[in-house]
Order: sequence, then C-alpha cells, then structure tokens
Amino acid sequence: MSRTRIADLLRSETSPGTVVVKGWVRTKRDSKAFSFLEVNDGSCLANLQVVADATLTGYAEAVVPARTGASVEVEGTVVASQGQGQRWELQATRVTLVGAAPEDYPLQKKGHSLEFLRSIAHLRPRTNLFGAVFRVRSRMAYAIHRFFQERGFVHVHTPIITSSDCEGAGEMFRVATMDGERMRTGGEEFFGKPAYLTVSGQLEGETFACALSNIYTFGPTFRAENSHTSRHAAEFWMVEPEIAFCDLAGDMALAEEMIQFLVADALASCAEDLDFCNRFVDKGLVERLEIVRDRPFERISYTAAVELLRASGEVFEFPVEYGLALQSEHERYLTERHFRCPVTVHDYPKEIKPFYMRRNDDGKTVAAMDLLVPGIGEIVGGSQREERPEVLSANLREQGVDESDYAWYLDLRRYGSVPHAGFGLGFERLLMFVTGVGNIRDVIPFPRTPA
Ligand code: 4AD
Ligand code: MG
Repeated sequence: MSRTRIADLLRSETSPGTVVVKGWVRTKRDSKAFSFLEVNDGSCLANLQVVADATLTGYAEAVVPARTGASVEVEGTVVASQGQGQRWELQATRVTLVGAAPEDYPLQKKGHSLEFLRSIAHLRPRTNLFGAVFRVRSRMAYAIHRFFQERGFVHVHTPIITSSDCEGAGEMFRVATMDGERMRTGGEEFFGKPAYLTVSGQLEGETFACALSNIYTFGPTFRAENSHTSRHAAEFWMVEPEIAFCDLAGDMALAEEMIQFLVADALASCAEDLDFCNRFVDKGLVERLEIVRDRPFERISYTAAVELLRASGEVFEFPVEYGLALQSEHERYLTERHFRCPVTVHDYPKEIKPFYMRRNDDGKTVAAMDLLVPGIGEIVGGSQREERPEVLSANLREQGVDESDYAWYLDLRRYGSVPHAGFGLGFERLLMFVTGVGNIRDVIPFPRTPA
C-alpha cells in the first residue's frame, strides 16, 4: 500500500478509509489501554494523532519503544477526531518501528533556542519552526520561477566559477586546486588565470539579455565580506533578472511587482506555516505582509532621502551625509518610522556604486536603486546599466579596473548596444521578510558565515 502524505490526509473532506502513513514520532502518551502518538512527516506543520490500542499485535515491540524521534510506519483507519483542532485521526491496525531513537535524541522537549538548534543543523528540520521555514523556502523558489516564466523571462544558468568581480568590491573567494604550494611559487593556475566563486551572475546575465531580451538567473553567490550581522552570509542565493530595452523606471516597477507577487503567493499557499510564524516568531507578520501585498510602495531619490534623514531629528550611530552609503539604521528609519512600507531609493552618488551603473545627466549620480523593506532594510539592489561604450570605459578606468579583463563586456556595447537594466533579490532576505525570522542563519539549510 502506498504512503499517504499527512498534509493530504488532514485536508480530505471525507475519510480516506484505510491508509499507511510514515513519519517521525514527535510525542507519545501512554495509558493502560492505548497510546497516542503524534506523528509528523514534514508534509505540513500539523501532526497526525495515531491511536494504538494496547491489544494491537506487536504493541510491545513497535509501539512501546516508539519514543520521540523514532520513525514509524502506521497502517490504520482514518476516523473523525474526538479532540478539538483536527478533523481526522488514525486508528492504528498495524504499527512498525522503522528506526528507533534512544533517549539521547536532542529534540525531546519544545522550546530550544535558535542558537542551540543551529548546532544541530542536521536535526533542526524536524522542528515546527524549521519545517515551516524550509517549506516556505521551497515554495518561494517555485514562485520566483513562476513569476518570471509567466512573464516570458528565460532562465539562464550563469557560472559559479568566474574571473570577474561584478561588484568591484574584491570580496571574492579564490578557487584553487589543492596544490597550493605550486600556486605560491608562481606555478601555473588551473584556469591559466586567477578564478573566484561568483559574487553575482549579472555580467554574464547581461550577455544573454542582450540576445534573449528578458532573462533571469537564480543561483548561489558567494561573498568574502567579513560582515558579522544577522543579514549577511558568505553563501547565499540571488535572483537576478536582466531586461533589454528597459530603463530604471521599468526596473523599479518590476522589482516592486515581484515582491508583491511573492508575498501574495506566500500568504495564499503557505497560510498554515505563516500563521505559525505569526504566533511564535513575529506577532505582526501576517498583517504586515497583507499591507505589503495590497498597498503601493514608496519611492524616493537618494538625495531626498539624505535630506529627510538629516531633518528627522533622529540620533543615528552612523553619520548621514551626501556621498555616504545609507546604513541599515537609516534604511530602517525610512521603512519603519517614516514611510511604514517598502521604499525604493534611487539615483545614488556614483562614487558609492559599481562601475556598470549608468551615469545620469547630472554627472554626479547613477541610475541605481535599492528596494528596502521594514525589519530588514535592503532586499533588492539594481540599476540601469551603462550602455555607452565610452562612458563605460571611463568608469572602468576611474575605478582602477583593467579594461582588457572586460573586453567581452565592452563588446556588448560595441555591437548593437541597448539600454538595459536589472536587479538582484537576496533570496534569504526575502525569506526573512516573509517568515519574520530575524537571523539569516535560520533560513538557510546549512548556513555559511565567517568564523
Ligand atoms: O546589492 P547587491 O550587491 O547587487 C548585486 O550583486 C547586483 N549585481 C545585482 C544586479 O543588479 N543584478 O546584491 C543584491 C542583493 C542585496 O540587495 C541583498 O538582498 C543580497 O543580494 N545580498 C546578500 N544577502 C545575504 N548575504 C550577503 N552577504 C548579501 N549581499 C547581498
Ligand atoms: Mg546592494
């Protein structure tokens, strides 16, 4: 008999009759006449209550030792639940102990700290919170593909090993063979030149946008920035659409539409998991997401944002001055205190942005945008790209980048150049926003952060 997912069983309108379920015991309560087992198979947040009579064949061998953490297979009849809260429970006719769990199983009781659970990353998916977070993660990955595929974007797989530093910040991990000694003595490089783990698929993505018009990438990216914050990881996933024949206004509109689409999808398809997060992680979560889904976002130029922050009378740790990057505290003031909704800040000073961003006519700013959300700050960063070859060359020179390394990138501007724009959405930042989880380490299956 094939296995029935507990999510499907609990959702049935009428009793599915006799079924087999397989999962892990969350808790067990014994009385003289029977045992109640709470079984979870990860298909949904809820456990299925299994009632096993003490008269059941094999009760002593299978049910008595089926402690918290053990895996079981249960065949039985689905009957209306006596207790409240759930429609169905399972009256067992056969219980098999698939894998026992001794008493040192670390998840015996509820209420472990997130820090402790990070130390047992291999077992934490078996908790309510991490089950919920990783189901939402899966669903959001699917929703991202749906959003772009439904709009005719072509999914491009950009390389993980690359020699270009897209963000120009030098925060890259070096890729080398194990034979490090040969490298130090100036011996040959595996690829003939230094190679790194990608910080962004954008530059390669641009080559495809300048052929297929609308593309997106979705994959792992790596940053060797030594940021010890709750929002930075050394390995994270990014979604990077790139659109030909598009300017900054079109770019901002797409980013806003995407965020609203993803939030709406999460509310509609992850209701049970988000309700759990709303109760145990962040009490205002669902209400905040509904506002984000239903109301237009704000936009403000960097210059106006700096004026607004300076006039706010607020005391910030970091200075607010034209020409300096906005810090997280400034971004959060804009989204949480001033506008109380997501805000797109656009047209930043060219000095604080990478070489590829399009220079504005004022000569001071570039066509950049950051989409900021309450609770997190920057979730999306993007820009219109510099499509004029001579301006791009000047930018490269100004930022001390060797033009010969970007000859192919300049070629895109020499042969049929088009205005184009794109952005990067930090996938984990999106998940933090959607689940209310406050630390990026808790939305990544196996987080990689600096020691
Ligand atoms: O703003 P960033 O650095 O932009 C780029 O990489 C561009 N090449 C994107 C593009 O235009 N195609 O990164 C984009 C987003 C940020 O807004 C943030 O959400 C996320 O990636 N991000 C990180 N997320 C987790 N850990 C880190 N260390 C991150 N660095 C950036
Ligand atoms: Mg950025």
